[in-house]
Amino acid sequence: MRLLVTGAGGQVGKEFLEEAVAHPIFAEVMGTTREQLDFTDRSQVFDAVTGFAPDWIVHLGAMTAVDACEDDPDAAYLANALSVRYLKQAARRTRSRICYLSTDYVFDGTASTPYREWDPTSPLSVYGKSKLAGEAELDIDDLIVRTSWVMGRYGRNTLKTILTLARAEGAVRFVADQVGSPTVVEDLAGALATLILEDMSGVFHLTNQGHLSWYELVRFVFAEVGADQARVVPIDSSEIAATRKAPRPAYSVLDNCAARLAGLAPMPDYRESVAKLARQLWLAG
Ligand SMILES: NC(=O)c1ccc[n+]([C@@H]2O[C@H](COP(=O)([O-])OP(=O)(O)OC[C@H]3O[C@@H](n4cnc5c(N)ncnc54)[C@H](OP(=O)(O)O)[C@@H]3O)[C@@H](O)[C@H]2O)c1
Repeated sequence: MRLLVTGAGGQVGKEFLEEAVAHPIFAEVMGTTREQLDFTDRSQVFDAVTGFAPDWIVHLGAMTAVDACEDDPDAAYLANALSVRYLKQAARRTRSRICYLSTDYVFDGTASTPYREWDPTSPLSVYGKSKLAGEAELDIDDLIVRTSWVMGRYGRNTLKTILTLARAEGAVRFVADQVGSPTVVEDLAGALATLILEDMSGVFHLTNQGHLSWYELVRFVFAEVGADQARVVPIDSSEIAATRKAPRPAYSVLDNCAARLAGLAPMPDYRESVAKLARQLWLAG
């Protein structure tokens, strides 16, 4: 099986590439960073896809800076939606399928029970809207994987911020009214590979099991690395609204319903995976 991976320099892309290259069934894996393939450039997309003729295009690259998307909606729609149209047009020529990584931000967060794959979407932010527009460019044979609160070894993420704060002193303020499920990249990369190998299509939610607020996550991580949990102060989103341009869904827990009903093994509980990653990153300094 031949894979073309976009966003290979990103947090998920780097680890997915490591996972894919080590897998015997993925005979050829072409990882592309922005320098090798700018997916907002239609001719670059056509050249890359028709030149390599992959079985799957794993589209992991995106404009992920949620607040920056509010400032520049055109850039967000170009990177997150029109890029998918270009990839899809090229993929039709080579009969390639597309695996597109999407987000919990396609939901408005007004639910109080986990969102199923079939629940109506209603994004609040430009980022969420542009990612949903990207989903809409795809066919029934493609694969859309929504995930949330991603944290891994590479790049920047909130877990790394939490660990930096744990090493410092003083109070640490995190919102207690935003609830979701953390997703450790190593688990996500393995689960993505499984969906591709199992020849799945349609929409899947993939996160670690369990959910909590950011405040509770910070307390959990502090406990894991031996930092003082009493330093963690719960705040309300309204207290930091002025510093965040994009509205965030208050409750964006994704029920991994399709994977469960299809009989796929659930991703581990966040208590196991986040604890393991936090300790690794803590020891690595
Ligand atoms: N992070 C999360 O919490 C989260 C949650 C839900 C879903 N997701 C989705 O998961 C996927 C991976 O996210 P991530 O956390 O790995 O994000 P990331 O670390 O920001 O990686 C995204 C990558 O895409 C690249 N990219 C952006 N525009 C490009 C372009 N025009 N051409 C080529 N490459 C381009 C970026 O390159 P530059 O560094 O050069 O910009 C970056 O390497 C995204 O689709 C995101 O929407 C993420």
